Amino acid sequence: TVKNEQFPQGFLWGGATAANQIEGGFYEGNKGLNIADVLPGGKERLKVLKEPGFNFEIDKTKYNYPNHEAIDFYHRYKEDIKLFAEMGFKVFRMSIAWSRIFPKGTELEPNEEGLAFYDRVFDELHKYGIEPVVTISHYEMPLNLVKEYSGWKSREVIPLFERYASAVLNRYKGKVKYWMTFNEINSALHFPIMSMGFSVQEGENKYQKIFQAFHHQFVASSLAVKACREIIPEAKIGCMLLHAPVYSYDSNPENILYALQEEQIFNYFCGDVQVRGEYPGYAKRFFEENLVDILMEDGDLDLIKDYTVDYIGLSYYMSQTQKKEKEGLDTAAGNLLEGVKNPFLKASDWGWEIDPTGLRIGLNRLYGRYQIPLFVVENGLGAYDKIEDDGLINDDYRIDYLRSHIEAMAEAIKDGVDLMGYTSWGCIDLVSASTGEFSKRYGFIYVDKHDDGSGTLNRERKKSFYWYKDVIKSNGEVL
Ligand code: BG6
Repeated sequence: TVKNEQFPQGFLWGGATAANQIEGGFYEGNKGLNIADVLPGGKERLKVLKEPGFNFEIDKTKYNYPNHEAIDFYHRYKEDIKLFAEMGFKVFRMSIAWSRIFPKGTELEPNEEGLAFYDRVFDELHKYGIEPVVTISHYEMPLNLVKEYSGWKSREVIPLFERYASAVLNRYKGKVKYWMTFNEINSALHFPIMSMGFSVQEGENKYQKIFQAFHHQFVASSLAVKACREIIPEAKIGCMLLHAPVYSYDSNPENILYALQEEQIFNYFCGDVQVRGEYPGYAKRFFEENLVDILMEDGDLDLIKDYTVDYIGLSYYMSQTQKKEKEGLDTAAGNLLEGVKNPFLKASDWGWEIDPTGLRIGLNRLYGRYQIPLFVVENGLGAYDKIEDDGLINDDYRIDYLRSHIEAMAEAIKDGVDLMGYTSWGCIDLVSASTGEFSKRYGFIYVDKHDDGSGTLNRERKKSFYWYKDVIKSNGEVL
């Protein structure tokens, strides 16, 4: 047991999820189809996400679609929230499925049944004193917008998003005070399908498409910040970045420069725009060298400058190690980020390199750069869990992972970082975003649901459930 007294009073402990990965009920309450509904389950998904030319169609003869039922939070939210309350959650991060509120994305009025569902969820959370932390868009854009407009490629999606954001901000102004605009906005550099709603075709200039879409999202995000300031002045609204600090493979200055450039484009570019309100200087050169020419309208840059975010929400799972010439070296393919293997790190069963010190480094780098509060809204270990003969799930590997990352946050706070809270990812087992598996489990709560679709959906407390309960109760003193 490690003792530390570093977490401030009021630190926001909790867990994190996304609508498409837990709710199910994909056709209920007038919900429209969204991107997650057409992503296949299993390792096939990763292939779809990486290869060009995905057609966004459902093909049940070839694939299964785990997000359709997910873990049925849509019907079981009361039971789940009760378990979160038992662990002592102060906050619960969730997202609103855009296509529950605007099924096609183009309607003029929101869908009352969808709005009423989230009212019930928020009321249930408040019953236990749990504050919701809400992501407005988490990989679940209405499919109709993908088909009609090619997602964020098109500027026409901006006012549709603004309408959606204003509708939820208005409806829940008395119930939600922590908001985020786009989940892991920078992840599009690797996976535009999930967050931007298009795939890059063979022979296309990937960067032109992605950075143009980023621009539309930046404008949309600023419009949501503007609406939030007007509708709920006391609320806090953040951006959300996938943070994977970049290391140079060695001390060769060429590699250090290369690592710096990767860090700028992947880790900092979106934050620089959303926090500082300006396109950074290095982007100009990157755009020139990669033939990127962003179409902007008058007023865009003012809006981006005037409506920056209050805090940075970040996910942290891994660092990345980069080298200019990768030939002959093993890649850390499982990391999804195309770096090389770091000889000092072990990896999860999915090849994600485990690096708690990287969290401390990342928090220091981000806070040093931006000087606004940070909120770790995702972190966790995807692992295979086993139910023992006595019915227990002894997930000590998960406890070890989380403990070491919480210790790293405590160190970062001692380093002077202003950290608001921590919501570990997948506090209840859910559908994996990148592989569509149920067997990649993150939860403190086990859900009896399997990759072949079988399972009772029953919920069970894992060993980590009791451990996390003590962590929260002691405000991070007992780890
Ligand atoms: C983040 C996403 O990328 O990582 C989540 O915001 C996702 O939606 C999480 O589930 C873990 O990734 P995966 O692929 O293991 O589910």
